[in-house]
Amino acid sequence: MNKKDVIIALDFKDRAETMDFLQRFTDEKPFVKIGMELFYGEGPDIVREIKDRGHSIFLDLKLHDIPMTVKKAMKNLALLGVDMTNLHCAGTIEMMKYAMDGLTEGALEAGRERALLIGVTQLTSTSEERMQKELLINASINDCIVKYAENAKEAGLDGVVCSPLEAAMVKDACGKSFLTVTPGIRYPGAEVQDQVRVTSPADARAIGTDYIVVGRPITKAEDPVAAYRKVCADFLG
Ligand code: C5P
Repeated sequence: MNKKDVIIALDFKDRAETMDFLQRFTDEKPFVKIGMELFYGEGPDIVREIKDRGHSIFLDLKLHDIPMTVKKAMKNLALLGVDMTNLHCAGTIEMMKYAMDGLTEGALEAGRERALLIGVTQLTSTSEERMQKELLINASINDCIVKYAENAKEAGLDGVVCSPLEAAMVKDACGKSFLTVTPGIRYPGAEVQDQVRVTSPADARAIGTDYIVVGRPITKAEDPVAAYRKVCADFLG
């Protein structure tokens, strides 16, 4: 697995649509993200099938539960053979440490490299106002994101999901080798859809983020393979 890579978000409703999309890629095997919709609809077999086709997989299920439950769940995800997965940093440092233990145990049992474990700080759908009023977090959202990233680092996680604009802040606080995985990638002038703060692949590269997650600019393109290649060229150089 490359350290820097483009991850395609497979936000499709079912296996048929997903396979229809993936079969277009004959010369390359892109790193892909499987989210809740596809995973809960199709079950773990969808992960095995895509893995068997030669893709690296980021399983985006954002776990958040008591530490031992998360540990056992992570062990099962490791046995499934995912390459990257994630959890909510809000589950505490203890929960994140247990998660890492579960992933490590599973990797040892499967004889595979441990999957990268990535934390979710604050969802981009959570505004600062809601975070303060509803969650009673008396801090700015940026301070909260940095603190959660620092907690993730202390727990031994590999990095966090964040917007490209937050990536620099996270790198400053947690060091260059702490990974940042960033969605919200759009070309200037393209439709932004429901994304608010967007960055181009070239700008994401300049900011120094490690992985970009790109959905619709590739999945809805007339020629998804050409769109994927362009994103890779602009981000990876
Ligand atoms: O289609 P688009 O490029 O906007 O897809 C981005 C992907 O990244 C989607 O799967 C979306 O759920 C995910 N994501 C995001 N913003 C976050 C976290 C995840 O867009 N803060």
